Amino acid sequence: MIKRFYITTAIDYVNGQPHLGHAYEKIVADVIARAHRSLGQEVFFLTGLDEHGQKVQQAALADKKTPQEYCDALAADWLAFAKKLELTNDDFVRTTQPRHKEFVQAILSKLNDAGHFYKASYKGFYSAREETFLTDKDRRPDGTFDPSYGEVVELLEDNYYFKLGAQQQWLIHYLEANPSFVQPDYRRNEVLGFLKNNTLEDLCISRPAARLNWGIPLPFDPNFVTYVWFDALVNYISIPAAHGDKMVLAAAKSEIGNRKSEIELWPADIHVIGKDILKFHAVYWPIMLKTMGLPLPKQILVHGWWQKDGAKISKSTGNIVEPIAVIDEWGLDAFRFYVLRELDIGPDGNWTDAGFKSRYQAELANGLGNLVNRSLSMLKRYRNGIVPTPSNELSADAAKAADETRALLKQNQLQAALQSIWGLVTRANQYVDQTAPFKLAKDPSQEKRLDEVLYNLAETCRVLAVLLRPFLPGTSLKIYAQLGLNESPDKFSEATWGKLKSGHVIGEPAPLFPRKDV
Ligand code: ME8
Ligand code: MG
Repeated sequence: MIKRFYITTAIDYVNGQPHLGHAYEKIVADVIARAHRSLGQEVFFLTGLDEHGQKVQQAALADKKTPQEYCDALAADWLAFAKKLELTNDDFVRTTQPRHKEFVQAILSKLNDAGHFYKASYKGFYSAREETFLTDKDRRPDGTFDPSYGEVVELLEDNYYFKLGAQQQWLIHYLEANPSFVQPDYRRNEVLGFLKNNTLEDLCISRPAARLNWGIPLPFDPNFVTYVWFDALVNYISIPAAHGDKMVLAAAKSEIGNRKSEIELWPADIHVIGKDILKFHAVYWPIMLKTMGLPLPKQILVHGWWQKDGAKISKSTGNIVEPIAVIDEWGLDAFRFYVLRELDIGPDGNWTDAGFKSRYQAELANGLGNLVNRSLSMLKRYRNGIVPTPSNELSADAAKAADETRALLKQNQLQAALQSIWGLVTRANQYVDQTAPFKLAKDPSQEKRLDEVLYNLAETCRVLAVLLRPFLPGTSLKIYAQLGLNESPDKFSEATWGKLKSGHVIGEPAPLFPRKDV
């Protein structure tokens, strides 16, 4: 049994509709998953929903539904959204599923038996919106709490705590010894700075059921439910357990799981997350895993946050991007292209409608679309769509783009990979202008030269389809169909030059990205 390449996204709170930030993260993970499949690995890509906790309970209440009814209704929208984005996820977790809840309880029992928890009273401040306890240290200079915490109330209550004190030092060493554990580097430095300058406080892992009952009951004290973050993080191993991953099943000493499939997933290769939830993934999660006796994920890949027109995306101010509306108007691949090309994984991004339209027009319609359309239309017109004898004039350019793309994909450099691929698009468009096949076609003595040019263009289009497959899945398939190929562009190894055979008859050319009046 070979361990699969296991990639996850954050699981989204199901307290509203998906937005640009959610879409971006899922597309990034999808491209990485598709790229690894293309490079020959077996992949397991997990995404899903975080359904417990106060945020969801309050949203359900406002909607006059039970939390479960509320989650079920919204989960249908989120599943449809994953389809709309053409995510190639292998499973979709909902934290209200029995397979997840049972596993969380197994872990809680095990850690409780091993003495990692204790019960204590807490008196202090609490933000329901962020589901977090606050101290005077969290106050701003003027004494107030940041508005992002919403209403902050004072509480006195009993809870269960997870001892973290003894864990700080090994985690610091681990982060120092493993530079690729948190990427990009500045996010790793942020975690290290936090760990070196603060003493970790024990983590409260429960909420009294009397105050918040929308959660997984603690198996050893039914008066409490599990803190939503402890519940949510465990999804990364509860789903492997459900698929029969022996390592996580052994760690939970759990018989739960579908014995029929036994696939090896843990440790995860990449957790893709946004910058706001770094501490949960790079501090609490590793400690949870270590106490369970499980290895840590290989990498936490942290992306930045999108704004629109330089301001925070916010429903209340109407400053939003509606991914579904954009996709319906411009096509999924235009949406995927813009977010991946505009923003590298790491820094914050800024969506502008003008920027979106300009990339559509310049890079998709006039760049890739024009190249494919004129290349195949000329082959059709001048050679009846019959591929001429192979020629190598652009093979070095194609090989360079393929080599670079392969290397960049392995480093999750998706933006740079697109830049490299567009280097080939630009080169091939220049080639059309320089060789002027429309002139060659008028001169019978240039027949052989025209054959060469047409071959180089058609084969470049084919190589581009293979390179683009993880990024623009539909466009890639359309290029293969227009080339009349029944094979699939799914394997990166197909990007080698010369696979288009002479005598092959191509299909019907059609615009990939219709020009729009903008
Ligand atoms: O945090 N730009 O859920 P969530 C980019 N349930 N990314 C954004 C974004 C934006 N404007 N807004 C949100 C949670 N995100 C938890 C996660 S994981 C075990 C539990 C990203 O719905 C955010 O950074 O608030 C996070 O990675 C993801 O969307 C889900 O956010
Ligand atoms: Mg959030």
